[in-house]
Amino acid sequence: MSSTIASEEKDRTWPELGACRVPAWVYSDPDLFKRELETFHYGPTWSFIGLECEVAEPKSFRRTFVGTRSVLITRDAEGEIHVVENRCAHRGSPLCWEQHGKAEDLTCPYHQWTYDFAGNLQGVPFMRGAPRPNPGMPRDFKKSENGLRKLRTHIHNGTVWATYSDETPPFEEYVGPEILKLITRVFNGRELRLLGYSRQMIPCNWKLYFENSRDPYHATLLHSFFTTFGIYRADAKFMVSPQPNGHEFIYSVLDPTLREKRSEVTDEMKTLKDQFTLHDMDVVSPVDEFEDGLISSLQVFPSIFVQQHGNVLALRHILPKETGKTELGWIYFGYADDDEEMQSRRLKQGNLVGPAGYVSLEDSEVLAQVQGVATSTPDSIQVVEMGGRDNFEPSETAITENLIRSFYKFYREKMGF
Ligand code: FES
Ligand SMILES: [Fe+2]
Repeated sequence: MSSTIASEEKDRTWPELGACRVPAWVYSDPDLFKRELETFHYGPTWSFIGLECEVAEPKSFRRTFVGTRSVLITRDAEGEIHVVENRCAHRGSPLCWEQHGKAEDLTCPYHQWTYDFAGNLQGVPFMRGAPRPNPGMPRDFKKSENGLRKLRTHIHNGTVWATYSDETPPFEEYVGPEILKLITRVFNGRELRLLGYSRQMIPCNWKLYFENSRDPYHATLLHSFFTTFGIYRADAKFMVSPQPNGHEFIYSVLDPTLREKRSEVTDEMKTLKDQFTLHDMDVVSPVDEFEDGLISSLQVFPSIFVQQHGNVLALRHILPKETGKTELGWIYFGYADDDEEMQSRRLKQGNLVGPAGYVSLEDSEVLAQVQGVATSTPDSIQVVEMGGRDNFEPSETAITENLIRSFYKFYREKMGF
């Protein structure tokens, strides 16, 4: 009874000033979390699933998620990629419990129904009863009608995407021309090589992680390593651009001479540590492999953050678990034709990112703290005004919150606030 009253009393009116204000209840309301999954993750969006090179061999699989639903990316005996729900059509057991593997078929552990790698039901133990002549399954039971749920799948240069909805527009249209160009800069058709994974569970709502990775303002201040070694500084050249459908991109010009320079800009960065140096400067001295001098990152809403940080190529797979819990799956990769030197450079610079990365360590801590405060003060309101209250335009400075405002403009439209 008391919970009914409490839910009736919830005030879910968006603050008057619009997208430059974010009410804290968006991070802590379980009903909203369920509605977000339906609207976004199971709605007309393309979710990132994995890389083709993660299931390099025929008859292999990898387990991941769309929203909170467990799905499998598989490669069948003929080499074709499929995305299916990791949910047995019989009584709902997950088929694959391992993160990845190789098998002859997909066999459910519960009653051993077997499926091929495209999700078609192949075998039902005791289908005709045992001992005979017990009835077994009804005569009109059709294997062809009891396969795994298949998701619509799209492959773009080694990246695999899937959607639950028949209404999702074609992938190229969904991401738009600007994002497509930047995705294709990294996923350019060269064969990919998987370098490794790391995973972390962050006790925060998934939107807090989304905001964080579309917030260059914090990156120039919170991350001491960034500022100290001149990798990402407010005095660098930036392009910070909101895109349709909740996507965005940020790129900056990497200027190694910045680390020697001090100015009125660096005076405002309390985290800059002049006295710090590194024994091995390779970590912050990438080779300009794309020949444009850029560091780039982009988000394809609602699931992935693609990061090219010097020579580190990493994907941050954002997987909502509960209202206040988000899994972050990191996938590190390079190209199959990288020479040894490039591969070792990628691995060394890989220390920049990941759960304990030199430039990403602080994010999970700060987000856990923000989640705690948001949960205990659901009526509080956050201020998102840097760069201009109504400014949703691309920006040439990192000192802007235009991407967060743009996200909440999009979010409010889709969620009906
Ligand atoms: S639940 Fe999978 S075979 Fe029964
Ligand atoms: Fe950060």
